[in-house]
Amino acid sequence: MNINGQHYRTIWPLEKDRNTVCIIDQRHLPHEFVIEKLTSLEQAWQAIREMHVRGAGLIGATAGFAMHLAACRAGDSTFADDMEKAAKYLLTSRPTAKNLSWAVERIEKAMNREETPEAKRQRIFQTALAIADEDAHFCRGIGEHGRTVIEEISKGKEGRTVNILTHCNAGWLAFVDYGSATAPIYAARDAGIDIHVWVDETRPWNQGAKLTAWELAQEKIAHTLITDNAGGHIMQSGEVDLVLVGTDRTTHTGDVANKIGTYLKALAAYDNGIPFYVALPSSTFDWKIDSGKDIPIEIRSGEEIMRVEGRTDDGTPAGVWIAERHTRALNYAFDITPARLVTGLITERGILKADRQAIHAMFGDKIA
Ligand code: MRU
Repeated sequence: MNINGQHYRTIWPLEKDRNTVCIIDQRHLPHEFVIEKLTSLEQAWQAIREMHVRGAGLIGATAGFAMHLAACRAGDSTFADDMEKAAKYLLTSRPTAKNLSWAVERIEKAMNREETPEAKRQRIFQTALAIADEDAHFCRGIGEHGRTVIEEISKGKEGRTVNILTHCNAGWLAFVDYGSATAPIYAARDAGIDIHVWVDETRPWNQGAKLTAWELAQEKIAHTLITDNAGGHIMQSGEVDLVLVGTDRTTHTGDVANKIGTYLKALAAYDNGIPFYVALPSSTFDWKIDSGKDIPIEIRSGEEIMRVEGRTDDGTPAGVWIAERHTRALNYAFDITPARLVTGLITERGILKADRQAIHAMFGDKIA
């Protein structure tokens, strides 16, 4: 993605010092573009936990580099022990995105193929780079396949604007590059299709207002910010042609965990006969959990609901309480959309039905 004419990924190791990994600290967007340098496992854990980086794909890529940072500091004689502890520790950072454990397990498997600590360190670094490259490559594939859905809608509307509603941020910032739900939008725009995006603000962390709106503005894609509660009304009014979202974990039976509020969008889309597509790289599939009901749902601090961080008119960072600070608040971060409400899954290999048979037929080789 280009920021002021310069291409960035969301995570990269420093060329001159591979023990330093750079991230974009997303807490400051859209007001400030801040690059943070990570040099330890603990810093990477904190970056995931406190959402300097967020979004399933980027959480996975950060976990890969976090294992690399752990390996840099692991002792030769205690290497296996240190890495086992690092893996366990990383898994405590955030529970819902499958990409986290997927990346950690991939690093562990790759590392175990080597004999010496030095060879293991090399292999871990190469694997972390491969996870990041693959993430960007898969998102490009998602874009190409997803473009066909938007093209069909555009043809049906004889070229009139296609209105797409998205929830949270499943864009470039949630991955290493391109994004999942936004990749088809960028590909369709490049193919000359007229697009407008309804951006849910996504309370309480406001990923839509802070990140998706900013991303789309950088890409010069027409968009309008709406409250989360407006989606149903806009769908009833015929102003939405397609709902396109990402996912943090999708069971191999097609149930989808995504940002809290996604389920309500799916229900409203179903009631209004609007296609509801979920875009994901295969690293997001959970091959062990059969039902969405068993996906671990993160509960974050209630303070995120009661307090809003932003900028004053003169650009000074400020936080304000919108609820009385002793109010009891419950902050579920994700919800489950059952497979029956999902029109299709858009993956790097193609578009498929959200059911066991179709998922196993296309991705049988990935079943762990
Ligand atoms: O809490 P977040 O910002 O990490 O949640 C992100 C989402 O819910 C995205 O929609 C999801 O990760 C899918 S796109 C990677």
